[in-house]
Amino acid sequence: MTKYIIKTERLGLRNWRSSDLEPFTKMSQDEEVMSYFPKLLSKEECNDFIKRMQLHFKKFEFCYFAVDIIETGEFIGFTGMLNQNYKSNFTPCIDIGWRLKRSSWGNGYATEAAKSCLKYAANELNINKIYSLAPILNTNSIAIMKKIGMTYDSKFYHPALKDDDRLKECMVYKKINY
Ligand SMILES: CC(C)(COP(=O)(O)OP(=O)(O)OC[C@H]1O[C@@H](n2cnc3c(N)ncnc32)[C@H](O)[C@@H]1OP(=O)(O)O)[C@@H](O)C(=O)NCCC(=O)NCCS
Repeated sequence: MTKYIIKTERLGLRNWRSSDLEPFTKMSQDEEVMSYFPKLLSKEECNDFIKRMQLHFKKFEFCYFAVDIIETGEFIGFTGMLNQNYKSNFTPCIDIGWRLKRSSWGNGYATEAAKSCLKYAANELNINKIYSLAPILNTNSIAIMKKIGMTYDSKFYHPALKDDDRLKECMVYKKINY
């Protein structure tokens, strides 16, 4: 039986395991999934990402969690929180992010997972402020921020995307738990 950290009606959110590498690499090499990222990820980069998430989880008890459909056990991507330290006027901060494989889009999964993460962050982790950002062109992602009750904070030029004219302008949303 898989041990989930968060369970929703349809989804289970958990720490990463080595068997995620293959499906995660496949989705990270899908042009459509990666349309708002500077490049596709190699298998080695995916492995580094998984290791980074496992380490973050060990240290902080959260990360961008791996997401499964509970009924089938299928891994569909990630949703969760992460500490961010890049240069900006809102970092260091904790952000919430999501990336799902193409075949799972359009079922409300990202919104369902993200809502449960916000609840978990407030109730179990005592996190009182969460940010989320996406390139202004990534309307699917910005729609989720709105659907989960985040509010517009600012526009921001991401230092990691500064050489990418298409992606560098980002929208920042936030959620404050009182
Ligand atoms: C952004 C992303 C995670 C959105 O995934 P998603 O699961 O399709 O998103 P949602 O949860 O918003 O669901 C989308 C639609 O499913 C539909 N849906 C179908 N069944 C549903 C159900 N049972 N419950 C809720 N919504 C349902 C809804 O109509 C919803 O759209 P609407 O709110 O406009 O009506 C996905 O497009 C993705 O992985 N993109 C690539 C990675 C990426 O860009 N990440 C962000 C980087 S900043």
